[in-house]
Amino acid sequence: MQQKESKKTGQTFISPVDSSGEDYQDPAPQSSALIIFGATGDLTQRKLIPALFHLFQGWLLPDRWYVLGVGRREMTEEQFREIMRKSLDGASRMGSIPTAVWETFRKKFHYATLKNFENTDEYATLEKQIVALDQSHKTGGNRIFYLATPPGLYSTIVRQLGISGLSGRGKRRNDEAKKTEIKKKTISKKKTSVRLIVEKPFGTDVKTARALNTEMREVFGEEQLYRIDHYLGKEAVQNMLFLRFANAIFEPIWNRQFIDHIQITAAETLGIENRAGYYEGSGALRDMFQNHLMQLLCLVAMEAPTAFQADRIRDEKMKVLRSVRPIDLNQIDQCAIRGQYGEGLMSGKSVKEYRKEPGVKANSKTETFAALKLYIDNWRWQGVPFYLRSGKRLAKKSTEIVIVFKAVPHMLFSPMVSGGLESNTLVLSVQPHEGIALSFQAKYPGPKFSVGRVTMDFNYHGAFQSASPDAYERLLIDCMAGDQMLFSRGDWIEESWQLLMPLLEHWQKTPAPCFPNYPSGSFGPKEADDLIKRDGRAWRRP
Ligand code: BG6
Repeated sequence: MQQKESKKTGQTFISPVDSSGEDYQDPAPQSSALIIFGATGDLTQRKLIPALFHLFQGWLLPDRWYVLGVGRREMTEEQFREIMRKSLDGASRMGSIPTAVWETFRKKFHYATLKNFENTDEYATLEKQIVALDQSHKTGGNRIFYLATPPGLYSTIVRQLGISGLSGRGKRRNDEAKKTEIKKKTISKKKTSVRLIVEKPFGTDVKTARALNTEMREVFGEEQLYRIDHYLGKEAVQNMLFLRFANAIFEPIWNRQFIDHIQITAAETLGIENRAGYYEGSGALRDMFQNHLMQLLCLVAMEAPTAFQADRIRDEKMKVLRSVRPIDLNQIDQCAIRGQYGEGLMSGKSVKEYRKEPGVKANSKTETFAALKLYIDNWRWQGVPFYLRSGKRLAKKSTEIVIVFKAVPHMLFSPMVSGGLESNTLVLSVQPHEGIALSFQAKYPGPKFSVGRVTMDFNYHGAFQSASPDAYERLLIDCMAGDQMLFSRGDWIEESWQLLMPLLEHWQKTPAPCFPNYPSGSFGPKEADDLIKRDGRAWRRP
């Protein structure tokens, strides 16, 4: 391994290439077809195509691959390619796209119209198209199906992939009585892989998530299923495993003896944009907590896995969820707060309240902010509160995990500090600035004894001098490589829904009386501050 000196900061760091280790090889992406249902939708254009382009530019894609976009709209291949090109305008971090690069890239894109997602015959036609493209692109029959459609279509598409045999596990009978039967003789003997990527939301409650899991498992094996939680693809989130388990200094203090409490914040400045259709039926708890915040909670609280393998890590995360103390509805106001944004100022501009957003009901009870206090009932975390909060139209975009350590046991310096010393904190910043900051007390220089907080700051960009890839780049390449580590397992999703169900049902039954209760551009409702203040603590200002 080689040490390098960062020109910008003077910090010494191990070059990321060298540090990958001679013995460890990331699983290589396999040649593959990427068949995207919902090919002209927002996700494809905003995330998937730019991610593919960056992977392509970075020589990270396998030698052989292609995209088959599937959508209801009729259009020619060239029209589809033009839409894809436009989606790259302004989205590429590499600036304008050289013509020669685009000419090679565009040839990878094809389009298929599927007018009716229920129509089995259309899947037969689709299959013919895929077989022909597999041959011309020499992808060897490996296929990734990507569900980037509205979630209401997931079941239908999955069922049809099963009936048509496109799932790679033989054809399922298309009649209800023989629902789970597989025609054994049609099972392919070839060693090809077929995978399915499913976007969130995965269900809207525990019942629908379970039903979706059941439907998917009738057609695909769990090892074929890649349920996206894009937070897991973020660099700083992946780094949490490395921080905790590649360093010896943190583990001994990562427990109830040394940690006072933990805060997890995912604050957004954006409102709901044009997503009222989805968000009105969702709200902050479903949209951010069931998936992203619970994943962060698991990563910060889990035990060390026995091996750096997808299922060993996912097993440990499951154990965390199973140890979360059920939300006590008798003390709901002590542990759960909801909010909805009113009008306010964002970067000096006035913005409208949630209820006036296009498509939102004038008396909407949907929460755009939530804060929870959770406990994890195990040896490591007994008595340590985890405070979680997330909201839209807050003062600042920031996702961070703050580990607040216990106060010093004896205050030697009390005459020098009014109000006591601030506790040490370790802040793991996920975005917008990825980094880790440890704060501690130090003596101010000078002839007097006075003490103040200082921070030891590590930031990714300064240290590694490269922009972090978008989460979707990592997730796409991992799926091509057959690595499920950064994807949610089916049992985890169900457990996470299960945990939030009492609260979701309670909030549904008892609509909030005083929405909107926080102005846009603030840090959320006062009740969220009170929630933590009652315990003698305060939220860290991001
Ligand atoms: C999505 C939610 O999963 O995550 C959005 O549906 C939210 O409502 C987004 O804005 C936040 O993602 P990020 O990467 O911007 O933190």
